Amino acid sequence: MLYGLYTRRLRRELRRLPKPRHVAIVMDGNRRWARGAGYDDVRVGHRFGAKHLEQFLQWSADAGITCVTAWVASADNMRKRDSAEVDYLMELTESVLAEHVRRDHRWRLHVAGQLDLLPDSTARALKEAVELSRDRDAGDLTLAIGYSGRLEVVDAVRAMLEDAAADGRSLEAVADTLSEEEIGRHLYVPGLPDPELVIRTSGELRMSDFLLWQATGSEIEFCDLYWPAFREVDLLRALRTYGRRRLQRFS
Ligand code: IPE
Ligand code: MG
Repeated sequence: MLYGLYTRRLRRELRRLPKPRHVAIVMDGNRRWARGAGYDDVRVGHRFGAKHLEQFLQWSADAGITCVTAWVASADNMRKRDSAEVDYLMELTESVLAEHVRRDHRWRLHVAGQLDLLPDSTARALKEAVELSRDRDAGDLTLAIGYSGRLEVVDAVRAMLEDAAADGRSLEAVADTLSEEEIGRHLYVPGLPDPELVIRTSGELRMSDFLLWQATGSEIEFCDLYWPAFREVDLLRALRTYGRRRLQRFS
């Protein structure tokens, strides 16, 4: 009951505060959460984590957030974690995340990352969900998977040079017109607003190569809870902190 009262109070407070359009979330701490809850198999943490993103999306929508980016797995995770764990993460991406987009008609799906790091079936499931959700306009959901912020910039510059070569433009011409906008147009998901707020769970105080290009002006909220334990009030609190900081910065 107290939780309900507190949630309502936070919602009321938020009405008077600036709100981010785009929230990015680093879902960290699944394995520590699983161990702490007495599970030997850390995959249980990933399952709860994936289901938890579905709830987070609903809370975000309820709070009027129209753009969410969620970090599902880094390029490093894909390369360095043991293959059974990565296989399971990919299975969840197909059966929980892509499936969620199929069912919840709010979100237009985008994928950020190196798709060639993913198993064929995962890449295919994501592409299908992107296709299927293409014409939705209530919200944009980006899943960062096989993602590295530095590699995104490298891939953007490469794509830009390939475009220029295809158009027969010289390197001098490319250098002449090089700009932030030009690189921005070649990012994995061009056209989205930058995230005004980045939330990272599990008490880790790092950006770890997430949204290197897009998050230069973001407010960052670190939360000590492990991702599966992150609640709606924690989102609302992060939004309140964001709103207060922005009021201060721009008043
Ligand atoms: C986040 O939880 C999910 C992924 C990075 C895939 P972790 O798997 O990093 O769990 P911890 O941080 O080791 O507890
Ligand atoms: Mg971690």
